Amino acid sequence: MKRILLTALTASLCLAGPVAIAGDAGKTAVNSPAAEAKATTTCQNCHGPKGDSVSATFPRLNGQQSDYIAAQLKNFRSHSRTDPHAVAYMWGMASQLDDSLIVELAKYYGSQAPTSPQSGGALAEQGRKIYETGAPADGVPPCQACHGAHGEGNSIIPRIAGQHADYLKKQLEAFRSTLRESDVMHANTKDMTDTEIEAVVSYLAND
Ligand code: HEC
Ligand code: HEC
Repeated sequence: MKRILLTALTASLCLAGPVAIAGDAGKTAVNSPAAEAKATTTCQNCHGPKGDSVSATFPRLNGQQSDYIAAQLKNFRSHSRTDPHAVAYMWGMASQLDDSLIVELAKYYGSQAPTSPQSGGALAEQGRKIYETGAPADGVPPCQACHGAHGEGNSIIPRIAGQHADYLKKQLEAFRSTLRESDVMHANTKDMTDTEIEAVVSYLAND
C-alpha cells in the first residue's frame, strides 16, 4: 500500500514540471512532461515512437537538430513553409503549439537516437562524391559544407543522414521548383539533375 502511494506520488510529481529521470535505463536527459505527452498522444500518430517513423510521407524527427525542428514548427505556424504536405498536415498541428512547447518538443526529438543511413544501391558511390565534393558542372556545392561530414546537420541546418529516401527526394525537388521556399537550398538544387538527386539520396537515406 505504501509503495503504491509512493509510486502515485512520484508519478504526479513527474507531471508537475521538468525533471531529470535519473536511473531510467541510463536516460539522463531532462524531458518536459508536456512535450512527452504531446509527442506520445499526437505527433507519434504520424512521426512514430520517438520520431522514428515508418512511412516516408512522415519525416523522421529522432536525432534531428533541435534548432531546426523549432524553426520549422514556427514556419508551419506562420504559414511560411507552403509545400502541399506542410499545408495539409502541419499547419493545423503547429497552430496548437506555443513557443515554449515548441522548444520542449524540439529538445525531446533532438535528444532521441538518430537512425543510421543505409547506403546502398548502384548510385550510392556517385552520391557520396556529390555529398563530399559537389557537382561543379551543375553548380551543385558539396553538401557536407553545411550538413556536416556525416549528414548530422548543425543548428538550423537539418540532419539529412538516415532520413527516408522518398521524403529527401521530394524535398530536393520542392526546393528546386521553389514549391518549398529556401533561397539557400534553391540555389543548391536549381540545376541538379534527377539522377544527381537520386544518387545523393541513395547515399544518405535509410529506406
Ligand atoms: C497527421 C500527421 C502528422 C501529425 C499528427 C504530425 N505531423 Fe509533423 N509532419 C507531417 C508531415 C506529412 C510532414 C512533412 C511535410 C512536408 O512534406 O513538407 C511533417 C513535418 C514535420 C516537421 C518538419 C521535419 C523536417 O525534416 O523538415 C516537423 C519538425 C514536425 N512535422 C513536427 C511535428 C510535431 C512536433 C508534431 C506533434 C505536435 C507533429 N509533427 C504532428 C505529418 C504530421
Ligand atoms: C550553404 C549551406 C547548404 C548547402 C551547401 C546544402 N544545404 Fe541543404 N539545407 C541548408 C539549409 C539552411 C536547410 C534548411 C532550409 C529550410 O529552412 O527550409 C537545408 C535543408 C535541406 C533539406 C531538407 C531536409 C528536411 O528535413 O526537410 C535537404 C534534403 C537538404 N538540405 C539536402 C541537401 C543536399 C543533398 C545538399 C548538397 C547537394 C545540400 N543540402 C547542400 C543548407 C545547405
